[in-house]
Amino acid sequence: MRARWSGAFRPDVARMTSMASTDITPEPASGARGAFSSRKVFILAAIGSAVGLGNIWRFPYVAYENGGGAFMIPYIVALLTAGIPFLFLDYALGHRNRGSAPLSFARTGRAAEGLGWWQVGICFLIAIYYAAVIAWSVRYTFFSVNKAWGDDAEGFFFNDFLKIGDPGIDSTLVWGVVIPLAVVWLAVLAIMLMGVEKGIGKTALIFIPLLVLAFVALVVRSLFLDGAATGLDALFTPDWGTLTHPGVWAAAFGQIFFSLSIGFGIMITYASYVHEDTDMTGSGLVVGLANSGFELLAGIGVFAALGFMSQAQGVGVGEVASDGIGLAFIAFPAIISEAPAGAFIGVLFFGSLVIAGITSLVSILEVVISAVRDKFELSRTAAALVVGVPATVLSLGLFSTTSGLYVLDILDHFINQFGILLVAVISMIVVAWAMRKLPVLADHLNRNGSIHLGRWWRLLVGLVTPLVLAYVLVQAFWSDVKTPYEDYPSWMLATFGWGAAALVMLLGYVLAPAPWRSGTEFETDASIERKGDQS
Ligand code: ALA
Repeated sequence: MRARWSGAFRPDVARMTSMASTDITPEPASGARGAFSSRKVFILAAIGSAVGLGNIWRFPYVAYENGGGAFMIPYIVALLTAGIPFLFLDYALGHRNRGSAPLSFARTGRAAEGLGWWQVGICFLIAIYYAAVIAWSVRYTFFSVNKAWGDDAEGFFFNDFLKIGDPGIDSTLVWGVVIPLAVVWLAVLAIMLMGVEKGIGKTALIFIPLLVLAFVALVVRSLFLDGAATGLDALFTPDWGTLTHPGVWAAAFGQIFFSLSIGFGIMITYASYVHEDTDMTGSGLVVGLANSGFELLAGIGVFAALGFMSQAQGVGVGEVASDGIGLAFIAFPAIISEAPAGAFIGVLFFGSLVIAGITSLVSILEVVISAVRDKFELSRTAAALVVGVPATVLSLGLFSTTSGLYVLDILDHFINQFGILLVAVISMIVVAWAMRKLPVLADHLNRNGSIHLGRWWRLLVGLVTPLVLAYVLVQAFWSDVKTPYEDYPSWMLATFGWGAAALVMLLGYVLAPAPWRSGTEFETDASIERKGDQS
């Protein structure tokens, strides 16, 4: 049996005696960075990160909107050509460099550090609105018990629950959101304070089996509802014509990146906590397939329930399916009111959203905490508080007011496209072409990996995926320039959309020049080769 180890840098430290001093990456002075105790815990934590709100409320609607069954083709193409290969890139960066996103990029090439901080900024912004959707789900888990929305789920969500005002900024607090949101932040901060293994690892060990049980029960229950087959027909009947629309391909790539938690530093960070002998490519395949399997299951469960609703109301499935937030918080409550054992369905559905959301939110926050710890002389407790307290205040201030929904919608749209996808394209170009590191990274994963990364991987990550994503991004950019998103006031789009996307990009340039904590060292190509020779 392989010996357990408690510090991410242990193996490097063990080599100290036989290697030149520049090869060594010591632990931060104030303690180990943390580590997952086994491959199983890492895989569960990575699945916990990947399976989130994106799988349950985003995927079913995106699939339906973009060709139903035909969407599976761009989806699978995006998964195999971009998702899994990019997941391997993230793993290679984090696992080889033993660092947070900024440190891993800096160790790949000092000029690339800013890309990591850009990802840190993206994660900070995602975390503050992601927590709000989890808080809504917490409330709705309880609302499900007595179907608090009565017979007007839509009016209840917008008027009674969110107390939504006109688009703009309003600082009136909505206490029905403030309290669950504060509880979510307290719970998540408690997990973050416990660290990588005891906090993130243990949470995944408990929550993932729970999520699988709850979600399988939900899907099975949904499949037995009258009209379930109508919903599945709507989801899986292919509309082949949609395959010629670039927007459908954009949706597939966007969904894969958000859903797999790739391109925003999460998998880099998690991989840095994994023992260096681990088979990372085999693990990545398990994570990727589990995530897509869950996504498909969510699509089946949600559409079976929508089929029931469409039959009960005598309308088409298209009329009961709405966008992501609406699907979960408007269509689903209506289903819960109508369906036999509706409260059971409601508790399972919203409970699953809470569980899946929490395990993803901790991974998003860990990107920021780990980066702050690597860069500055801070203990985990100090870093968790330095990151968590402002995040909580901003999250409460922006998303528990009567204008919270608008800000959330804009931020989500712009950060996904002009944050995650943009930094993904640029990082692939920088790593593949400017730094020319793909061969070294492939060698690193090939040492213990069960899937050999050959020329096919370098071609995908270095050429095909950046080209496809660049095309998708240009299309998305023109579409947002031509038609302002959802007709929001232009100052709101400029601030929370374009402004927020630009701000996180600039963060890289502001933080990169700051000095690293004492003892941080950077490898040279010579040391990489020596490491390779030794293993
Ligand atoms: N991967 C996470 C999700 O799908 C962020 O929600």
